Amino acid sequence: MCAQVVFAVLAAYLCGLFIPSACRDNLNYRPVIGVLAQENIIGDPHAQGPSYIAASYVKYLESAGARVVPIRITGSYEDYVKIFNAINGLLLPGGNVDIQKSQFSRVSKIFYDLAIKANDASDYFPIWGTCQGFQQLTVLTSNKNLLTLTDTKAVALPLTFALGAENSRLFKSFPKDLLLSLAQENITSNFHSWSLSVQNYTRNAKLKRFYRILTTNTDGRKEFISTMEAYRYPFYAVQWHPEKSPFEWIDKPGMIHSLSAIKASFYTASFFVSEAMKSQHRFLDQKEEEEALIYNYSPVFKGLSSIFMQNYYFD
Ligand SMILES: *[C@@H]1O[C@H](CO)[C@@H](O)[C@H](O)[C@H]1NC(C)=O
Ligand SMILES: *[C@@H]1O[C@H](CO)[C@@H](O)[C@H](O)[C@H]1NC(C)=O
Repeated sequence: MCAQVVFAVLAAYLCGLFIPSACRDNLNYRPVIGVLAQENIIGDPHAQGPSYIAASYVKYLESAGARVVPIRITGSYEDYVKIFNAINGLLLPGGNVDIQKSQFSRVSKIFYDLAIKANDASDYFPIWGTCQGFQQLTVLTSNKNLLTLTDTKAVALPLTFALGAENSRLFKSFPKDLLLSLAQENITSNFHSWSLSVQNYTRNAKLKRFYRILTTNTDGRKEFISTMEAYRYPFYAVQWHPEKSPFEWIDKPGMIHSLSAIKASFYTASFFVSEAMKSQHRFLDQKEEEEALIYNYSPVFKGLSSIFMQNYYFD
């Protein structure tokens, strides 16, 4: 740290510039992001072992310059502390498990608590939640399940941006024309039965203090939060599915493959990877890193009518 500061001050002096945030330019250009596995869907004919990760989440992160480490759901607390200290961010994917009783929720809580502690100690660690991951984050922050049923299964919607959301951390680097597409075109894929209503968010002090609403949607009866970011932590959540547009191909309503939808997908991934680049966590050595990476596993093709084209399975 000291050597870096001395170097930065020296560099700033030599350039004739004053850089107050010298240390923050110290980005990690080899980010590794953990993706949490979850209990297999009951009756999955391809399942091997107790858990899976849909390959679309892996490709989504890889497309934006990160490598992926799968996180199994059967580990001990000590296993997860070790992984936490080696990875630069966590993605909680979509799926269909109990967000209060599953192993997925147990492991989410371990990482969430570690991330809060780390960030409080200026050890940057971002978390991204998609769909079920969004819902899991609301439970972790409020210690309650405040979700409500909405009619939002297999529908593509335009986002309603909250006032000033274009200046949020997440959206401020998006091109203006992309923000316009997100606001005007039906390009965000919604595949959820449960949602966090604006009403329940507003009534819950923990959620309201923790997260800033960036976008909302409605099913025609209830207004719900579709994108949010934490005020004081690098935590981000989308109720929609940016990874589906480029990487999932089931032919049904709500699936969108337009150029603007794919661009929106990439910009969300790129933003999260840029957050992971601010984390300095690392594996102890190359051997540990090599053994942990997703490249050790092969995804299984599930067929064109599957909700996930390819899954990774874990024992
Ligand atoms: C608020 O949360 C409760 C669960 O605590 C749920 O039963 C209810 O439907 C929610 N109401 C709205 C409007 O979201
Ligand atoms: C487009 O979005 C609107 C909400 O703004 C929704 O009512 C409509 O069902 C959507 N259309 C499609 C084809 O998904």
